Amino acid sequence: MTLSREQKYRKLNQASAQELDQLQQKVAHCAWRQSYHIQPPYGLLNDPNGFSFYEGEYHLFYQWFPLGTFHGMKYWYHTKSKDLAHWQNVGIGIEPGDSQDSHGAYSGSGIVKDGELYLMYTGNTRNEAWVRLPYQNLAVMNSEGNIHKRSEPVIASVPDGYTEHFRDPKVWRAGDDYYCVIGAQRTNETGCAVMYKSQDLLSWSFLGEVSTQLNNFGYMWECPDYFELDHQGVLLFCPQGLVPEGDRYQNIYQSGYVVGKRLDVNTQMLDHGAFRELDRGFDFYAPQTTEAPDGRRILVAWMGLPDVSYPTDQHGWAHCLTLPRELTLREGKIIQRPVQELEKRRKDEVNAEAVLHSEAKSFSGFQGSAYELICEFNEADADRFGIEFRVGSTEKTVLTYDRNIKKVILDRSLSGQSVNSEFGSERRCSLDADTIKFHLFVDTSSVEIFVNDGEEVFTSRIFPSKESTQIRFFAHGGSAACRASLWQIS
Ligand code: FRU
Repeated sequence: MTLSREQKYRKLNQASAQELDQLQQKVAHCAWRQSYHIQPPYGLLNDPNGFSFYEGEYHLFYQWFPLGTFHGMKYWYHTKSKDLAHWQNVGIGIEPGDSQDSHGAYSGSGIVKDGELYLMYTGNTRNEAWVRLPYQNLAVMNSEGNIHKRSEPVIASVPDGYTEHFRDPKVWRAGDDYYCVIGAQRTNETGCAVMYKSQDLLSWSFLGEVSTQLNNFGYMWECPDYFELDHQGVLLFCPQGLVPEGDRYQNIYQSGYVVGKRLDVNTQMLDHGAFRELDRGFDFYAPQTTEAPDGRRILVAWMGLPDVSYPTDQHGWAHCLTLPRELTLREGKIIQRPVQELEKRRKDEVNAEAVLHSEAKSFSGFQGSAYELICEFNEADADRFGIEFRVGSTEKTVLTYDRNIKKVILDRSLSGQSVNSEFGSERRCSLDADTIKFHLFVDTSSVEIFVNDGEEVFTSRIFPSKESTQIRFFAHGGSAACRASLWQIS
């Protein structure tokens, strides 16, 4: 579909009441609306933004284009939560359309200073010749929840050596100073992250590039995030343009991290290990983290990807966010676990135990389309074992551990309406373990799978029919013992 500039950059107030009503009707009739994930009221959601804890609540914004399921004029939509488990829609957080963000309020982050929440974001602008000029802007939220945009950008130009692809500031504080990383493209069309420093969040000086060993690693890095865990430095970013390599880099764009010694803010040196992907699933991008008041590092990501379409597009909405996950480090690797607060949403627990002998079994009470499921397999001599879920007469999503090749495999080829199958219908990753624990969060049109307590995660959208609610546990070519618990989530 080719869209005119007028269509892409329409603002909400340009739509008639009738158009909005029709859009809402369309969304209301969609069978794939999620039941416990953050999703847009209508239109398109992408990156999480401004994730922070302020005045006793978590604030989480997201990129939002209201008037269609394409990437148009982006707003920040505001949601909040007291417990990371139940979220409340607040409404528009940042409205674009002023000179500093004329073509969209793009991604950015939040930080609390002097009792207010500072939101630093990229203002996407285009001049008359349609040349993109990215500004880095500030909007400040007070304790009443009012957000005031500053009309002057705080970083008004792109430094020499970089292209117009210069966006997504992530701010943090170290000592008395503030720093931010910004995703950038060098003029030689390679991606990197650059750094700025500030004393007051208003006036910023350019420090240079974060110096990594990844000098020719994709053509653009989006959404960088730097934080420290266990006295080590972690840089998350989304490189675009990596070529698939074995099981890795299978999605259109990637999302991953490097871990190393703490970033030297004076030299911008980051001495780090290998780049790893954060997630093994089909739909995961643009993660952002924040620090909880108790010191935990919490991550939320977009459960979707840019430049590909999804089955809900025709129903007037697209995408959702992942559940919040707690990050820890183990031997240079990020471990992700669903935040413990999510247990508050558990209802109607059922348990079952069995030894499977080359068969597929269902257990009483194990079914649904919005639930949490934990299943541990051990004492296996089967070639393959695992779980089939969202099963119906012709549909199923299959999660397998293959003991011969020691891999976890997620297959969505029969999950329902197909999604971007040109990028394959299977995702795999290696895992060498005798006991395999699958921890699933299934929602109407998604699944998040935590393997062996967060050693690996597969995040994916699936689009089954409403009737596909069965769950089966299987072992092929031998036996495996399995123990499972399930909770409905409401
Ligand atoms: C990533 C991204 C960001 C940009 C935003 C625009 O998905 O392209 O780089 O700020 O989305 O919506």
